[in-house]
Amino acid sequence: MCEVHDVVILTKGDINSLSLRYGVSTRDALLLLSAVLKETYDALFFKQYINLSEADLEVWKSYLKRRGGEEPIAKIVQKKEFYGIEYKTNRHTMDPRPETELIIDLFKKYYKNFESDLSILDLGSGTGCLGLTVLSIYKNANCEFVDISEEALNITHENAINLNLLDRCAFTISDWFSNVKGCYDVIISNPPYVSMKFKLDRATLFDPKNSIYAKNDGMESYEKILPNAPAFLNKNGKLIIEIGFDQKEKIARLQTQLSLVEIVKDMSGIYRTCVFENV
Ligand SMILES: C[S@@+](CC[C@H](N)C(=O)[O-])C[C@H]1O[C@@H](n2cnc3c(N)ncnc32)[C@H](O)[C@@H]1O
Repeated sequence: MCEVHDVVILTKGDINSLSLRYGVSTRDALLLLSAVLKETYDALFFKQYINLSEADLEVWKSYLKRRGGEEPIAKIVQKKEFYGIEYKTNRHTMDPRPETELIIDLFKKYYKNFESDLSILDLGSGTGCLGLTVLSIYKNANCEFVDISEEALNITHENAINLNLLDRCAFTISDWFSNVKGCYDVIISNPPYVSMKFKLDRATLFDPKNSIYAKNDGMESYEKILPNAPAFLNKNGKLIIEIGFDQKEKIARLQTQLSLVEIVKDMSGIYRTCVFENV
C-alpha cells in the first residue's frame, strides 16, 4: 500500500492481503470498497490501482472487520436489492430475501392489469420491499404499510421517498390489524414465522428478532392474521402470504373464512407462499 499526500494507492495485492487479514473473500472486500467509494464493483474490479483517502481507508477497514464477524454485506452497506430495486435496510429491518420475490410473482399472476387502481395492505412492511415493489409496477395502486416497529416503518417511509412513491402510500404503526381501518383488494405479508426453538445461522442474527421469530412454534402471526383478514378484504380480495418450510399442513388446518387457492413452492422446492381468497 502506498501513500501520497493523504491519498492511499491500493493494488490488487494490497486488497488480497487485507482481505486475508480480516478473513473476508476478495469479492466481498471489493463489494465493500465499492460501497465506500460509491463506484460499481465492475469499475473497481478492472482497475489496476485504486486511489482512496485515509478516511475512506479507515471506513473500509471497519467494514472488513464487521464482514469478518459474518455480518451480512447488506447490513454493513445498509442496502439490499429486491426484485431489481434497491432498498435501504438497517438494524431495525429484516434484509429482503430472494424467496420473498415469489409474492410479487404471484401478485402479477392474479392481477394482470398493471393499470388497475388496487388498494393494498402490506402487513409487516419492514423495508417496504413488498408494497413498494408492487406500487412501482401498478402505477395507479395505493398501499397502506403496517408494522409494529416504528423504526422499521421509518425505513419503509424513507424507501417510499427514495422511490418517488410517497403520494400513494399510507403508514400505520399497528399490531397486525389492531389500528387498521380500511378494506383492501389485496393483503401481502411476510410475517415472522420461525419457531423460537430454531437456532438461526449467524447471518440471520443481525436481523431484528421480532422480524424472524413467532411464538406457538412459529404459527402465532398466522393465527392472528388469517382469522381477521376477511374483515379487511373486499369480496374476492386476496391474501398472499409467505410461510416457513414446515408450515404448509399447519396453515391449511388454521381456522379462517378465507378460501385457500394455492400454496406455491419457491426455487428451492420449498412450499413458500400461500394465496387465499375472500370468497
Ligand atoms: C419477516 S419481516 C418482513 C419484512 C418485509 N415485508 C420483507 O418481506 O422483507 C416481518 C416484519 O413484520 C413486523 N412485525 C412483527 N410482528 C408484528 C406485528 N405483531 N404487527 C405488525 N408487524 C409486525 C416486523 O417488525 C418486520 O418488519
